Amino acid sequence: MNFRHEDYKVKYYKYASALGTKLNRILEIERLSFPEGHWNEEDFKRVIDYQDNYLLTVGSDDIYGFLILNSKPFLDIWNLAVHPEFRRRGLGSILINCLIENSRGRKIQAKVREKNLNAQKFFRAQKFRGSLLKGDETYDYPDEYEETYIFEWLPENYQQKNNLILPSTKNRIKQYFS
Ligand SMILES: CC(C)(COP(=O)(O)OP(=O)(O)OC[C@H]1O[C@@H](n2cnc3c(N)ncnc32)[C@H](O)[C@@H]1OP(=O)(O)O)[C@@H](O)C(=O)NCCC(=O)NCCS
Repeated sequence: MNFRHEDYKVKYYKYASALGTKLNRILEIERLSFPEGHWNEEDFKRVIDYQDNYLLTVGSDDIYGFLILNSKPFLDIWNLAVHPEFRRRGLGSILINCLIENSRGRKIQAKVREKNLNAQKFFRAQKFRGSLLKGDETYDYPDEYEETYIFEWLPENYQQKNNLILPSTKNRIKQYFS
């Protein structure tokens, strides 16, 4: 089968209620994408409806992938997944390109688990720059104590001073700084 990018459309949602039964498809993609631990229906409703958050979906008649975004003060990707059967067809890239086109001077950021190599390769392919968060900044996955990578895309002429990743005040190696 031939897949053409022009066959896919991106839709924006500000409220989960606008999704109707399509939320079930999002939940299915979430479950297949994160078998070790995934958000449930209540999580999605709460997160989509959260202030300054948006859901983007990509698909044709059906939804094949989604992205959840917090838009202030920068574009922070809270969740991103493409249905396993539809991966490596450029759908994740379509979602990221949509953010880039609407970034209006804001940086774009995503946090990725250390073990999630596929997502790291994906963000590298989107020209995101990755760096390792240290110490207590790995708070996203505190139980497993898995390191977190932060991937950033910066718009042209972005002020470097806004981009400093400061060491955490509770950093494990804080004692070596004075
Ligand atoms: C990460 C994810 C969203 C990528 O979606 P996708 O639609 O397959 O991505 P694309 O087809 O746009 O990939 C673009 C490029 O990224 C790179 N890439 C994507 N997946 C890759 C993989 N598994 N291995 C190596 N490179 C990969 C490739 O360079 C690819 O281009 P190519 O196919 O021409 O080689 C998808 O793999 C996914 O849903 N993973 C599970 C959930 C997840 O980890 N989400 C991210 C949480 S931060």
